[in-house]
Amino acid sequence: MQKEKVKVGVVGCGGICKGTYMPNMVNRFHIIDVVGCADKIESRAKWMEEHYGVKAMSVEEMMNNPEIEVIVNLTYPESHVEISKMALEHGKHVYCEKMMAPTFEEAKMLYDLAKEKGLMFTTAPDTFLGAWVQSATKYIDDGFVGEPRTVHAQISRYYNPESPFFDTAPKYFFFPLHYGGGFPFDLGGYYIHAMINMFGSIKRVAGFGGNLHPERTYLNPNHPKYGEAFEVNTPTTQVAALEFENGVVGTFNITSDTQGTQMFTVAGTQGVLDLGDPNNFSDEIFLTRPGALPEKRFQLPGMKYDEKVEVKDNDVQQLGEWTPSARVQLPLLHGFYDSCRGVGLADMCYALRNGRRPRCHCDIGLHAIEVIHAINLCGETGQVYEMTTRCDRPAPIRPSAFSPSCQEVTLDD
Ligand SMILES: NC(=O)c1ccc[n+]([C@@H]2O[C@H](COP(=O)([O-])OP(=O)(O)OC[C@H]3O[C@@H](n4cnc5c(N)ncnc54)[C@H](O)[C@@H]3O)[C@@H](O)[C@H]2O)c1
Repeated sequence: MQKEKVKVGVVGCGGICKGTYMPNMVNRFHIIDVVGCADKIESRAKWMEEHYGVKAMSVEEMMNNPEIEVIVNLTYPESHVEISKMALEHGKHVYCEKMMAPTFEEAKMLYDLAKEKGLMFTTAPDTFLGAWVQSATKYIDDGFVGEPRTVHAQISRYYNPESPFFDTAPKYFFFPLHYGGGFPFDLGGYYIHAMINMFGSIKRVAGFGGNLHPERTYLNPNHPKYGEAFEVNTPTTQVAALEFENGVVGTFNITSDTQGTQMFTVAGTQGVLDLGDPNNFSDEIFLTRPGALPEKRFQLPGMKYDEKVEVKDNDVQQLGEWTPSARVQLPLLHGFYDSCRGVGLADMCYALRNGRRPRCHCDIGLHAIEVIHAINLCGETGQVYEMTTRCDRPAPIRPSAFSPSCQEVTLDD
């Protein structure tokens, strides 16, 4: 049965709203009804009104509108706490883009406030609801790697505030320079959320890094401060070891101080999954395990095989007892494979209508921000950090056919 739509108001009509969220909220998810939008730069809200027919209003008007059930906080990180707090104090449920707050203390304050008010508070990233992370998690749960034992994630991008990549818009002064901005906060959450989706809560953290190269010079000739020295006040490199409650141990390395690499691997007693980038909804999944190469007649359409490791009959004879491995590409089983930011909000709307727990529950966002905070502390103190928060693995999404309406049905559970 078609559920009653959830009326939402959007604060923050910048880049991600214009290019991704607004079209998805208005055109893609039936459960979402966007009744208003606001931005401190009024022309941005007006643009949404003209292009999507969503009424431009002030933040105060939106907070006081009794029709609106959920505030969608798409402001930049500097304003996340102000807007989420205001919304909760006005009795609204909140969906907030990542990270939920610049500091662990502020995130905890919001978490406690939502709990005290009995309101639903969910946080991005929602990419872990996408096709590849859901499919990879199912493969792990179904035993494709045997008993999972380790996870390794590494992401680096040369992503520095002094580079010409950064323009002179005010948000960029916050984004790379101040605590709560910077690469581990911007991209780290995607990896931590994907790992939590696969293995659950993290028990202990050890690590190094932090703000290793604070002194910089503006290198963008168009920048008004070109040539001047400045300081970065946020961690840009973190190298960490994680111990999960379920016994899996792993590494998480993230930096914006080097050229780019990316790796995400889960290894178990029977095999290894080489995975993609959890910032994407869709990516490749490769399995390497003994005897993984199915007979030709059982090979699924779309499965790719790494020719280099294909096993020949006489190899098996020569190798005696040793069982050779093969690497195969596994198909994606789930929907939400294209750019569908906002799926976490749609999931929250079904959670509200069906009285269930939302998959992007803020206890994951809080746990993720504590991990980043913990790695910084470990770097400073040289101690292992015992996590103070925990979260449950979100419920898996059912596999689905690749059509928007079939995909959305899987959230109505
Ligand atoms: N840009 C991306 O590719 C991307 C991808 C994924 C997630 N995100 C996340 O989405 C959020 C927004 O990113 P963005 O790139 O769209 O930023 P942006 O700077 O382009 O847009 C943010 C908008 O919020 C408005 N705003 C800020 N504070 C406000 C306040 N107090 N009241 C009303 N309006 C306010 C700004 O005027 C601006 O228009 C961030 O949390 C970011 O981490 C961005």
